[in-house]
Amino acid sequence: LPEPDVAALGRDDVAGLLPRPGAESDKYRRGVLGVAAGSHLYTGAAVLAVGGALRAGAGMVRYAGAEEPVAQVRAHWPEAVITQLRRPSVDDVGRVQAWVLGPGLGTDEWAHELAASVLASDVPVLVDADGLTLLALDSALLRRTAPVLLTPHAGELARLTGADRADIEADRLRHVRAAAAELGVTVLLKGSTTLVAEPSGAARVNVTGSSWLATGGTGDVLSGIAGALLAQGLSTYDAASCGAYVHGLAGRLAADGAPLTAAGVATAVPAAIRTVTSGS
Ligand code: APR
Ligand code: MG
Repeated sequence: LPEPDVAALGRDDVAGLLPRPGAESDKYRRGVLGVAAGSHLYTGAAVLAVGGALRAGAGMVRYAGAEEPVAQVRAHWPEAVITQLRRPSVDDVGRVQAWVLGPGLGTDEWAHELAASVLASDVPVLVDADGLTLLALDSALLRRTAPVLLTPHAGELARLTGADRADIEADRLRHVRAAAAELGVTVLLKGSTTLVAEPSGAARVNVTGSSWLATGGTGDVLSGIAGALLAQGLSTYDAASCGAYVHGLAGRLAADGAPLTAAGVATAVPAAIRTVTSGS
């Protein structure tokens, strides 16, 4: 392991943390996730994030976006409950237990206002991709009391903290811990291994992934998976580390020694969850 002094969750740990429905479950109590992602330029990011969330067991996914991504999400996921936004606000989207903000969202004024609206809510928010760029441009967006989970790759973390990307790559654990402490939020740092750090300094590593995951859109699927776990009540720390575990395993199953696609990773998520929970 490249990070010897940090713990990895084992299969039994993840099995114990993953939510499972019981006889008393209904779709609302299983966790409603809001997804604010996608733009006229990047419709696929919205499709992939919603797909990851649905496959990871969200009770319901509410998608909110502009006309073009709405058309794509509707075509791919009849299960999603969709709000086509006429203004950059999620006030008219129904109640959710967590939000995923940012994949493919763009960084224009509309995206900035939408991000502010999502972050003004009182539920946990996972911020990824363009959402992270917006935070780098306007740190006031992070002034909230409800939990935040940031999911940058090294380049996105560099933009957020001002550190050098090469310095981050040289000591990923130190930098993810420093970012979590400095920003006061949970940070998941993507790469060949995935590191998750808390402001307290607690950290975990995940190594279930596959190098075949280094292809466009797989990060968007991770956002959906971890967001679904947040909506189901896991803490940001557990949602991030269990999400990375399941995403990595889904990548291995989807690849099986040959190229995968991001959509294929989302498709493999139920099999990955089955692998984790079977026999426990
Ligand atoms: N080994 C194992 N896992 C890997 C490897 C590797 N060598 N390389 C990447 N991964 C995993 C990461 O850990 C992460 O889960 O693949 C995923 C890649 O996620 P992102 O870096 O977010 O990439 P992507 O999905 O293409 O992002 C889409 O959003 O973040 C922006 O700049 C990004 O424009 C791009 C878009
Ligand atoms: Mg990404």
